[in-house]
Amino acid sequence: MNEQDSGMRACPQETPPDGPRTVYGFHGDRLAGLRDLFQYARGLSVLDIAMNHGLVSLELARRGVSLVHGCDYHEPGVLAARAIFDEFRIPSRFEVVDLTGGPEALQAAFGADHLPRYDIVLFLGIYHKLKDQTSDAVIERLVRHLAARAARYFVVRASSSALLDELAPMLSDAGMSKVHFSALSRVVGPLEIWQRGDVSPYIGTS
Ligand SMILES: C[S@@+](CC[C@H](N)C(=O)[O-])C[C@H]1O[C@@H](n2cnc3c(N)ncnc32)[C@H](O)[C@@H]1O
Repeated sequence: MNEQDSGMRACPQETPPDGPRTVYGFHGDRLAGLRDLFQYARGLSVLDIAMNHGLVSLELARRGVSLVHGCDYHEPGVLAARAIFDEFRIPSRFEVVDLTGGPEALQAAFGADHLPRYDIVLFLGIYHKLKDQTSDAVIERLVRHLAARAARYFVVRASSSALLDELAPMLSDAGMSKVHFSALSRVVGPLEIWQRGDVSPYIGTS
């Protein structure tokens, strides 16, 4: 099957800084698996890691989140996100960060604004990219830093379920439980949502 048959396309904005990269699908594809989260987003703060143009966070902003911070190493994406979020009254900040620099790179970019906790941490479509760029040890330190900062939800998409499984021990160690999984999309990879604390039992009527 070629790219056209599968409905995949490389997004034109995904060119350099340092070589060709690709993002597959269209905006609606990259929301796959996220829609259940939208109804719980009102009032929550968001850290969007490798947010590209910030369009997933834009959907959360439309649903009433209270703050968005995001980062990406693709400067045109960061500039686009800033321009988009100028249209929202909520506080937002988008910075150029190369995540291979680990938590220190994030801390340096955001300074005192890097919050100790964000209600929602988005880690979408970046794990498998980092695997090509740096060591597992660097990525694990970053993921553990981010998981510790996720006050309610840690949301991760990777290119395969096997890669998601690699992250499970780090998220469990951070006190999170998996509450959502979606692999319905044939265009983008599977997505998991982890929630801080124990999952409440279903309370229904029998
Ligand atoms: C597949 S896209 C995902 C975009 C967005 N999170 C989404 O789900 O729609 C991967 C993003 O990771 C960014 N990226 C790749 N390597 C990076 C790095 N080392 N540091 C920061 N951002 C990086 C790319 O610029 C791109 O925006």
